[in-house]
Amino acid sequence: MPKRRNFGSLAGRTALLHALAHIELNAIDLAWDMVARFADAGLPREFLNDWIGVASEEAHHFALLSARLADFGANYGNLPAHDGLWEAAAATAGDLLARLAIVPLVLEARGLDVTPAMTGQLDRLGDVKSAAVLRLIYEQEIGHVAVGRRWFDFMCRSQALVPEQAFHDRVRKFFTGELKPPFNRAARDAAGFPASYYEPLAARTAVNRIDDC
Ligand SMILES: [Fe+2]
Ligand SMILES: [Fe+2]
Repeated sequence: MPKRRNFGSLAGRTALLHALAHIELNAIDLAWDMVARFADAGLPREFLNDWIGVASEEAHHFALLSARLADFGANYGNLPAHDGLWEAAAATAGDLLARLAIVPLVLEARGLDVTPAMTGQLDRLGDVKSAAVLRLIYEQEIGHVAVGRRWFDFMCRSQALVPEQAFHDRVRKFFTGELKPPFNRAARDAAGFPASYYEPLAARTAVNRIDDC
């Protein structure tokens, strides 16, 4: 996948919106996959209601980004797109705790970390419409991380697991690499997702690595 660097050019902005639309399209499928795949896991009805709500919001996000792409004379499908989200879904298809750890609590939480900088950049370029779309997505994604945490903890309680420990185990097993700081602590806190889950998995700085030797 080519790197997106210059949001100031029409091509760069289109590539950014296209990449985000691709993430949202995958997010729709992932939310419905949660409903369909784990419907028989003995979870309360609220589990299904929560993910149906997430799917509905992801569809809205995709529609907003598609409309913005159209403003730039582009459509979803014009550009290549990565397969990372779907690979994560396939890897965690047999393990609900792993799915909850990786999709909402690693990948969607990462979205909270990186979105404010993108929004600020779009604002500075004067693209207030795209910035407004990203702001709305950001607010709703806090809720998606909250849903992930809610059901991750529910599953841990039902299996007498310590949630932080179970999170560390699943992320180490199913996620390649370390979690990238800086974390958006305020947004993660707003989602009820404490640092005790993710800080111990954070990529250490080069200095720390040298000190460790
Ligand atoms: Fe979304
Ligand atoms: Fe989401």
